[in-house]
Amino acid sequence: MPTDALFARWAQRVEAALAGALPDAGLAPQRLHAAMRYAALGGGKRMRPLLVYAAGHLAGADEALLDAPAMAVELVHAYSLVHDDLPAMDDDDLRRGRPTVHVAFDEAIAILAGDALQTLAFAVLAESGAPADLRVAWLQSLAAASGAAGMCGGQALDIDATGRTQAVQELERMHRLKTGALILASVGMGAMAGRVDADQSQRLDRFAGALGLAFQVRDDILDVESSSEKLGKTAGKDAAQVKSTYPALLGIDGAKAKLDELAAAMRDALAPFGERAAPLAALGRLAIERDR
Ligand code: IPE
Ligand code: IPE
Ligand code: MG
Ligand code: MG
Ligand code: MG
Repeated sequence: MPTDALFARWAQRVEAALAGALPDAGLAPQRLHAAMRYAALGGGKRMRPLLVYAAGHLAGADEALLDAPAMAVELVHAYSLVHDDLPAMDDDDLRRGRPTVHVAFDEAIAILAGDALQTLAFAVLAESGAPADLRVAWLQSLAAASGAAGMCGGQALDIDATGRTQAVQELERMHRLKTGALILASVGMGAMAGRVDADQSQRLDRFAGALGLAFQVRDDILDVESSSEKLGKTAGKDAAQVKSTYPALLGIDGAKAKLDELAAAMRDALAPFGERAAPLAALGRLAIERDR
C-alpha cells in the first residue's frame, strides 16, 4: 500500500479513537469536556500518532494494538500545547488556526483541560486490551517522556533560556527534551508492540532522536520564515519573546545545515530496514520539509 494511503488510514483511526475516548461535551462538567475536545480534535498534523503506527508497521505489530499508544501520545502532546500557550508560558492566542484554549474558554479551564488530557492519556494505555507487560512498558515510556526528564523538563529549560544566549549543546539538549522526548517515545511505543532486536531498537532510537531534534529546528525556522495564516499559530513569536532557537543562535543557514545533517542521520539509521521502513522514512522527510 502506498505511504499516503497508509497515512490517511492511520490518521482516520486515531481521529475516531480520540473522538470516542474524550469525554462527552454534553455531560457535566461541560466546559471542561468541551475544552478537552477543542484542544485534542480538529486540526493537528497527528505526527506523533503516525510515528507510532509507522514504527509498529516496521516491527510487524497488529494495527489494532497501536490505537492506544497513538491516542495517548497525541493526548499528552495536545495537553502540552494548551499549557505552552498559556499567558505564563508563551502567551499565544492562535493555535491550529483557532483561538487558543485559554482564549476560547478561560485560563482556569485551560489549565484543567491540560491536566485532564494528560491523565486521560495514561488511562487509555492502562485500559487498553494489550497484554499487561506491554501496557506497563508503554506507561513507563510515556511517563518518562512527558515528565521532568522529558517534555516538562525541556519546557522548563526553554523558560530558563528565554532572553539569554545558550551554548549550542544546551540548546540541543532543550530541544531533545521539550520536543524530542515525545517523538522518541512515539517510535519506541510503536516498536514495542511488535518485534525488533536490540540492534534494530538502537537504530530506531537514533532515527527518532534525529527526527525529534529536526522537528523543533524546523518549527523554529518556520517561526521566522512562514506566516501565521500558513502555520495556524502566530509567526515571529520566538524573536519577539527573545526565545533561544537554532535560527537565533546559528542563523537561518546554520539551522538549515543542521537539518541536512539530521536528514542524513535519519537515512543512515533506517538504511538496513528496506521497504518496511518506508512510512517512517517519509515521516522523517516530512519533519524536515513541512511548511506548517
Ligand atoms: C508543535 O507541534 C509544537 C512542537 C513541539 C514543535 P506540531 O507541529 O506537531 O503541532 P500540531 O499537533 O500539528 O498542531
Ligand atoms: C514546543 O515549543 C512546545 C512544546 C513542547 C509543547 P514551541 O513553543 O516552539 O511550540 P509552538 O511553536 O508554540 O507550537
Ligand atoms: Mg514554547
Ligand atoms: Mg509555543
Ligand atoms: Mg515554535
